[in-house]
Amino acid sequence: MRTTARRAGEAVRNAARKAGRTPQDQPTVAADPSGEESRAARRERLLASNLTELAVEFGTDKWGIHRYTPHYERHLQHLRGEEFTLLELGIGGYRKRRRSGASMKMWRWFFPHATIVGLDIEDKTWLTKGHIHAYLGDQTDPEILQRIIDEQGAPMVVVDDGSHIPAHVRESFRILFPLLPDGAIYCIEDTQTSYWPAWGGQLDPQARGTSMDLVKDLVDGLNHEEFLLDDYQPTYTDQWVRAVHCYHNLVIIEKGDNREGTNRDHSAHTFHGSSELPRG
Ligand SMILES: C[S@@+](CC[C@H](N)C(=O)[O-])C[C@H]1O[C@@H](n2cnc3c(N)ncnc32)[C@H](O)[C@@H]1O
Repeated sequence: MRTTARRAGEAVRNAARKAGRTPQDQPTVAADPSGEESRAARRERLLASNLTELAVEFGTDKWGIHRYTPHYERHLQHLRGEEFTLLELGIGGYRKRRRSGASMKMWRWFFPHATIVGLDIEDKTWLTKGHIHAYLGDQTDPEILQRIIDEQGAPMVVVDDGSHIPAHVRESFRILFPLLPDGAIYCIEDTQTSYWPAWGGQLDPQARGTSMDLVKDLVDGLNHEEFLLDDYQPTYTDQWVRAVHCYHNLVIIEKGDNREGTNRDHSAHTFHGSSELPRG
């Protein structure tokens, strides 16, 4: 694992060298307070770390309480050496200053050339430094979301780790998803609140209006061209959600053209084979 991570780090650094970037473009690093590790050695180690190691380093629960980092690494690895904007809804830390922005710092080292933007209902704007930008506002407010896009560019990656209230999750997705570029990745964490009434969820797993209900609709929409409904009007997400990956409490949605064409005219009305139920 270490060797693979080291190679990934080398690849990132080589990509930076090729792109002619100076070391100033790389994230800055504080020296180890124990004095045992030099600033340069720490920087080298962090750039060579995988996402789980970075989560542990900076103290985000994306690894530990949750097991999200290997999934993120699989879906986001291709962006590691790229310049793009990542927006995370929910910066974290609550009243604890030292714990604030743990995941933003993790993303900063995993994506050394990206702009990392966070939005929180509590004021974390003091975290803004270098390529990290923290905004104050509500994840369901279209004005602040538009302002972020105007100032930082349309995000290639969105991570919703905010209130986890299903109505908020749905509203942020409704506002943001159409504004994202082709190839964007939209991640929703802690979807278990769909089933928890205290968080605005429902006891009935099939209930409408939850975060997972939104996700199930997206999954149906992947096949919308096969629906045998004459008057069906494809929705925006039918046409622009290309893949939906569901994990324990985490959903990763890929944006892309989902208008491949149908084969229903040829085969939907003619059944070949047996319609008997399997025995036993
Ligand atoms: C679980 S913490 C985020 C943790 C952080 N992303 C990490 O992994 O280290 C959730 C954050 O969402 C913020 N939050 C709650 N409701 C919000 C809302 N409506 N809009 C924006 N942020 C919100 C909270 O203040 C809190 O800082």
